[in-house]
Amino acid sequence: MEVVVIGGAGHVGLPFGLVVADQGHQVVAYDTDASAVEKVLDGSMPFLENGASELLAKVLEAGTFSASVDPAVVSDADVVVVVIGTPVDEHLNPDPSVVLDALIDLTDRFRPNQMVILRSTVFPGVTRRVEAWFADHHPGIDVAFCPERIAEGFALTEIVSLPQLVGARTAEVSDRVVAFFETLGVQSIRVLPEEAELAKLFTNTWRYIKFAAANQFWMMANEFGVDFEQVRSAITTDYPRAADMPGAGFAAGPCLFKDTMQLAAFSGNSFALGNAAMMINEGLPLYLIERIEATHDLSDMTVGILGMAFKSDIDDNRSSLSYKLRKLLLFRAEHVLCSDPYVVDDRLVSQHRVLEEADLVVIATPHSVYRELDFQQPVVDLWNLTDQGVLI
Ligand SMILES: NC(=O)c1ccc[n+]([C@@H]2O[C@H](COP(=O)([O-])OP(=O)(O)OC[C@H]3O[C@@H](n4cnc5c(N)ncnc54)[C@H](O)[C@@H]3O)[C@@H](O)[C@H]2O)c1
Repeated sequence: MEVVVIGGAGHVGLPFGLVVADQGHQVVAYDTDASAVEKVLDGSMPFLENGASELLAKVLEAGTFSASVDPAVVSDADVVVVVIGTPVDEHLNPDPSVVLDALIDLTDRFRPNQMVILRSTVFPGVTRRVEAWFADHHPGIDVAFCPERIAEGFALTEIVSLPQLVGARTAEVSDRVVAFFETLGVQSIRVLPEEAELAKLFTNTWRYIKFAAANQFWMMANEFGVDFEQVRSAITTDYPRAADMPGAGFAAGPCLFKDTMQLAAFSGNSFALGNAAMMINEGLPLYLIERIEATHDLSDMTVGILGMAFKSDIDDNRSSLSYKLRKLLLFRAEHVLCSDPYVVDDRLVSQHRVLEEADLVVIATPHSVYRELDFQQPVVDLWNLTDQGVLI
């Protein structure tokens, strides 16, 4: 099949397009970001994703994958996949129109019998609005909502191993979409579009709340002078009912917080549990600093931050709490030096300089390489990479 991925040079769209192309479909990544498209066409990934550079080279060589900024490519597609970003704004409001607006911009490009698969995480009710728009303007085009559930860094393996939620209104549309995912070797779970919309938001929010619970437990243990990691290890060892209790740490990135806020807006801003999770997770950098200040006068210290990505072993710094930590420290410490082995950012310095000059180091992102470091100064290590416990 001919497949066009709208948002196809993004963190979710590009790995998906590569996997689809690797299965022999003819894929075009359509994206408005000209520099990302150019990079992809040159054979280089615009961001880190395990195994993706090799797969990009392979499908470019095979001629099954291409990228374009030309919206005309949409007309050639049998399957149109939409994976553009769906962020909340600076007031934490979702924009329920962003996906439909992108489709309206392309209205001259659609043709009968195409299948449109929405893959962005959307505000509940968006799929119904998209279905209604197509019914009015392009009758005969099938629409389904099939959320992406991968974790960045693991996309290539997870796209083909996780079951796919297929949210479709009728059995006919569902059959057509399921048949497409079967060509990728992916098992489908059939639901209604609204069920799939909630399933995606509940998935991310559930994870965000679990991290918040762990973070609050960590704060309680800390206040009591107890190492939370000792407690967690005691709880989870050979005890399956608590085996999924996460450790403490920054819960950040472009999805979990945003989708919890989408759900809060959806529930008329009465989502007490979601808002509480937000307060705890977003409050962690300040709590951390206050704990450090209990024993250190930061005003004449150089503080080093190791890790600016939002999670380990990737280069994505979107909505990373390391930057919130940096901002807070800039106001309190004499100097702040930040470093990351993967993130590209002019404000960062080398890891060597951080280790040489900092009076105290905070490990803000648990990149695996930090396990090997020798520190000459005190280290604040919420992740227990240094195996010294997490009591701060
Ligand atoms: N990042 C993740 O781990 C992840 C996981 C699951 C789901 N999601 C969801 O997937 C969606 C995309 O997230 P992402 O992280 O890939 O975002 P991203 O910003 O990395 O990618 C989105 C891409 O869409 C392009 N784009 C925006 N508007 C466009 C338009 N009108 N036409 C063509 N291209 C356009 C952008 O240039 C960008 O390259 C979001 O809804 C997100 O919530 C993300």
